[in-house]
Amino acid sequence: MRLVIHQSYEKASCWAAGYIAGRISSHNSGKPFVLGLPTGSSPLGIYREFIKMNREKKLSFSQVRTFNMDEYVGLPAEHPQSYHYFMMDNLFNHVDIDRKHVHILNGMAKDLVEECRLYEEAIAAEGGIELFLGGMGSDGHIAFNEPGSSLASRTRIKTLNEETLAANARFFEGDPSKVPATALTVGVGTVMDAREVVIIVNGKNKARALKAVVEEGVNHMWTLSCLQMHPRAMIVCDEDAAEELQVKTYRYFKNIEKANI
Ligand code: GLP
Repeated sequence: MRLVIHQSYEKASCWAAGYIAGRISSHNSGKPFVLGLPTGSSPLGIYREFIKMNREKKLSFSQVRTFNMDEYVGLPAEHPQSYHYFMMDNLFNHVDIDRKHVHILNGMAKDLVEECRLYEEAIAAEGGIELFLGGMGSDGHIAFNEPGSSLASRTRIKTLNEETLAANARFFEGDPSKVPATALTVGVGTVMDAREVVIIVNGKNKARALKAVVEEGVNHMWTLSCLQMHPRAMIVCDEDAAEELQVKTYRYFKNIEKANI
């Protein structure tokens, strides 16, 4: 696993956006580039960079197919806190992507189990995900794979835990009881099937989880620790998120990456 530590969130976001843009632009398999995407505040800096690069004609999404990680159950696409709305507002409305190439789980589907099954099928039909961009919850979760999720899990319905409800309450008038209690999410196994995984992590509130994910073993209580088993995974973070790492770990990754940042 690569760990690329930047001085600030802005620098980490710019670097990660540039890296992903490079992967998209140099993709020459003749097939579309299949990109997995997250919501949350962590990827916002990357999305701002994507929009800027798209405006400056340095990056095109015309050959990109996207699959989002997750969506709340019971929120319609027009709801300002739905992940559909978030993605349109923060990325898709501002770049040259064809809407029919955007895939987001439908948390309003009549048959949620079938919705999840079809999502896995749609990913497979596109040839699998080339690069999955993700964030991390303060308890080390990836997508909505809460602590204790099977590391072999696939797309499914998931009940959100107290820590996630409390963290996401900031989008629901500060009231955890207003946050939908269930969500549809890709599984840890779905993320692990991507040919590459890039995670953006920032802020002191993520430091404890980052330490567990990087320095401790693979453990279902910190589902992002699955990355230790991925052949091509990278975490891009800021100094605040790196705060709890051992000095030795910090220096090791800084030294190894010094030519790249
Ligand atoms: C939610 C999302 C995750 C996201 C996490 C962290 O739980 N399902 O995909 O990574 O929040 O969000 P933030 O980036 O706002 O800290």
